[in-house]
Amino acid sequence: MGKRSATGGFDPSGIDAEAWEVLEGQLEATIPNYDRVNTWMTFGQDKRWRRNVRNHAKPGMKVLEVGCGPGSFAEDLAGLDVTCLDPSPEMLAAAQPRVDAARAARGEPPAVYVEAIAEAIPLPDDTFDMVFCLFSFRDFKDKAQGLTEIFRVLKPGGRLVICDAGKANKLHGFFGYLWMNSVVQLMARIITREKNHPWKGLAASYTHYGTNGYYRAMLRDVGFENVQGRLLYPFGMASRFRGTKPTQSVQQKGSLD
Ligand SMILES: C[S@@+](CC[C@H](N)C(=O)[O-])C[C@H]1O[C@@H](n2cnc3c(N)ncnc32)[C@H](O)[C@@H]1O
Repeated sequence: MGKRSATGGFDPSGIDAEAWEVLEGQLEATIPNYDRVNTWMTFGQDKRWRRNVRNHAKPGMKVLEVGCGPGSFAEDLAGLDVTCLDPSPEMLAAAQPRVDAARAARGEPPAVYVEAIAEAIPLPDDTFDMVFCLFSFRDFKDKAQGLTEIFRVLKPGGRLVICDAGKANKLHGFFGYLWMNSVVQLMARIITREKNHPWKGLAASYTHYGTNGYYRAMLRDVGFENVQGRLLYPFGMASRFRGTKPTQSVQQKGSLD
């Protein structure tokens, strides 16, 4: 029996295949109400967090968003060469018209869309100046493998910025658990007008998500340097992680020593 069986297939390092399929179905079911519920459950902070992450990019950069969902973040990536990756055809079908309409209104060419998981990115090494993950890292099946693939497709010196639910430590996680399982459930029920709304199942991905320290260590293990990971204030509901792909690989460094 797998070590995740006691938690329904989830642990901080990832999600079993069967539990991930169920989670994907729940994520797809959020599409019609995704932005509204997010805004309510974060008191509108989600827009600030997205702006905070977006501001890391410089004009003209080649960027990848991993887990683009319905395009809530990618639509505002102005002045950039954008690739959107998501394993869900439904998410990509929602994202494409929205993101490309916003790009056309700014006189920009359409984005590139890739149907894939983070753990197996079908793109060449050393391609992107920056990779973003907004509220998708929590859903990776194998988080270390997803980070390894992101590291591979980043150019040397390129940066990863992740923003996801905040969990500074286990105590903070307990308050987050209470929030996800009470207020968020009530808001989702009011907005969707459905008793069995998809946010019921999504709370599990937060419950078994790891702490900031756990993922900072994972980023370093994968090879990222200048790793940071902390809560975003004022409410501490989200965490932001940053890491840079070294300009010299470890092997190269070794041969120069
Ligand atoms: C909550 S949505 C995030 C949407 C968007 N990034 C945003 O800013 O709100 C999470 C997305 O992650 C995607 N996802 C789930 N597992 C993934 C994986 N293993 N690799 C890449 N994306 C994944 C889901 O399909 C979903 O579209």
